[in-house]
Amino acid sequence: MSPFIKDASVQAVLAAAGIVDVISGYTSLRKRGATYTGLCPFHQEKTPSFTVSAEKGLYYCFGCGEGGDVVRFLERAENLSFVEAIEQLGERFGVPVEFEAGAGPDAARKDRESRLLLLLDKAATFYQRFLWETESGRAALDYLEKRGLGEEVCRAFRVGFSPDEWRGLKRRATKEGFTDRELEEAGLLVRQTGKTYDRFRGRLMFPLVDHRGRVLGFGGRTLKDETPKYLNSPEGPLYQKGRLLYGLYQARRAVAEADEVIVVEGYTDVLGLVQVGVGNVVASMGTALTDAQIGLMLRFTGNVTFMFDADRAGTDAMLRSGELARGHSLRPMVALLPGGRDPADLAVSGGPEAVTKVTAGKVSLLGFELRQALARGDTSTADGRVRAFEDVRRIMGRVSSLKEREEEIPLVADRLRLSPDSVALLLRGGRAPSRSDAVRGGRETAMLTRRLLGSETAVERDFLVAAACNPERAVDILGALTPEHFADLDNREVFAGLREALALMTGPGDHEAAFAKLRSRAHDDSSVGPLFVRLVMEADQGRYSVAVLDELCLRLQEQYLKREIGALRATLDDGEDRVEEQKRLVRLERLLQSVRANLKDLDPEEGRT
Ligand code: CTP
Ligand code: MN
Repeated sequence: MSPFIKDASVQAVLAAAGIVDVISGYTSLRKRGATYTGLCPFHQEKTPSFTVSAEKGLYYCFGCGEGGDVVRFLERAENLSFVEAIEQLGERFGVPVEFEAGAGPDAARKDRESRLLLLLDKAATFYQRFLWETESGRAALDYLEKRGLGEEVCRAFRVGFSPDEWRGLKRRATKEGFTDRELEEAGLLVRQTGKTYDRFRGRLMFPLVDHRGRVLGFGGRTLKDETPKYLNSPEGPLYQKGRLLYGLYQARRAVAEADEVIVVEGYTDVLGLVQVGVGNVVASMGTALTDAQIGLMLRFTGNVTFMFDADRAGTDAMLRSGELARGHSLRPMVALLPGGRDPADLAVSGGPEAVTKVTAGKVSLLGFELRQALARGDTSTADGRVRAFEDVRRIMGRVSSLKEREEEIPLVADRLRLSPDSVALLLRGGRAPSRSDAVRGGRETAMLTRRLLGSETAVERDFLVAAACNPERAVDILGALTPEHFADLDNREVFAGLREALALMTGPGDHEAAFAKLRSRAHDDSSVGPLFVRLVMEADQGRYSVAVLDELCLRLQEQYLKREIGALRATLDDGEDRVEEQKRLVRLERLLQSVRANLKDLDPEEGRT
């Protein structure tokens, strides 16, 4: 199963790991008959559609389609690799994990990586102790006090102080057996013309921790007026600035609870907000967000509120981040800070009330952009209003949601002294065709296609589930179908797998081998694994009757025939004489008629097509 861990170890871990125990750490599960149900940890929902079967060792969410075994759960929930997940489970359930002898290079790489992680973690502790427990730490403590940051929040984020010497950290790390090479690789040591010295000296140290709590690097702030104000770890195999959100590890729970994440720019902004009880906050670290960072947030919430500094740089970074967030179909909000303040100042000087006031007044990013554009232009003259309107149209054009655009019409109408109807009209009409319009048009068509395809796919999936629920009947039905009956490639694969599994039945009621085969495919890559899990789970609950299977089979045939006929017609359009194709078309059309007649018999409502 894995090229690195011995298969026997994998099996032993799987046998020992309690899936209900593990998943209970993420969502509260309630026993319902043979299975447990709860709210899905992978998507937002209010009624439980997440099920776990202790006996089968599988989970599945009927809401979002995520499913698998306990290993896949950890891979997803904690962003672990297969090997890491097995190791974690092994530790937790007391099963020793053995590696294949041949796994040399990878095992060595992994060893090196864990050495570096250990070194970085020890460095964080070293800096922390240097801050709190030495005479030299005084200066930094005074600084923190002056900025109003208390001990509790500083400890929660492991803030520290680096000695103002050339080799303070190096001396200590060497004593603990770390090499210069390792210190360099961890970004803690600089080598110049053969000499080495500590990268961070006399700086306030902010450990850069990933969402799993591992220290990957540091941001070091000068206590004086030095430049750079912040010195950060260089990017390397472990630390990549754009893949980490400062504070996410500490904020995870609060973000999930609030179903919202507040994004600020700086380390101190995070600390300041947390100190006044606003825990759902992360920092982009001074730049616009990256796709990877948005991906991280999306695991915990779909609601993003930006609270960036009210200066030019902050506004620009927020606009760029917002644009990217929209690309992920998020609808970003903006909490506007009073001029000249950053969130840290605001929290420290104004307390929780001041922060609440700012967050309560948040507006949509679109509204914010429009207000800015309207404030920039001179709306006292007709000319100015025309120009402002062009800006409005450009800004609106970047937002694909009609609803979101419509919500801002009153604002625009008010500022431009037009009726809301006229604004709506102007926004719709007279738009000069541009390159980006063509792109947007293409995207809309693509979305429509996807939506249509979506319903085809749904029939195919339901059919496969119904087949798994009724194996005896399904054996015959599946035997008469071909992969081409399925438009979706994943569904084709599941169809083939199901047919293969059901072929193992020797007679009615003999399901064991067939379902063992299906379960074994839970590990299949990408999207197919969860589909097999779904088959097993739904079959178990007997979701669909034979009658439903028959009907879905007809629907499946109907959409298949429609597709084939459409394709055939397109080839016949070229005007050439193609007797064979003509005959096939007639045959397919007859088939479609009989399928439709059968469907009509089933349901008196049918036949409107
Ligand atoms: N930053 C950085 N390198 C710099 C300047 C800034 O990495 N040379 C990042 C840091 O993550 C910093 C954030 O950008 O926290 C915001 O920068 P800034 O607003 O200048 O710093 P503050 O966090 O406000 O720090 P302070 O309040 O201590 O000045
Ligand atoms: Mn700042």
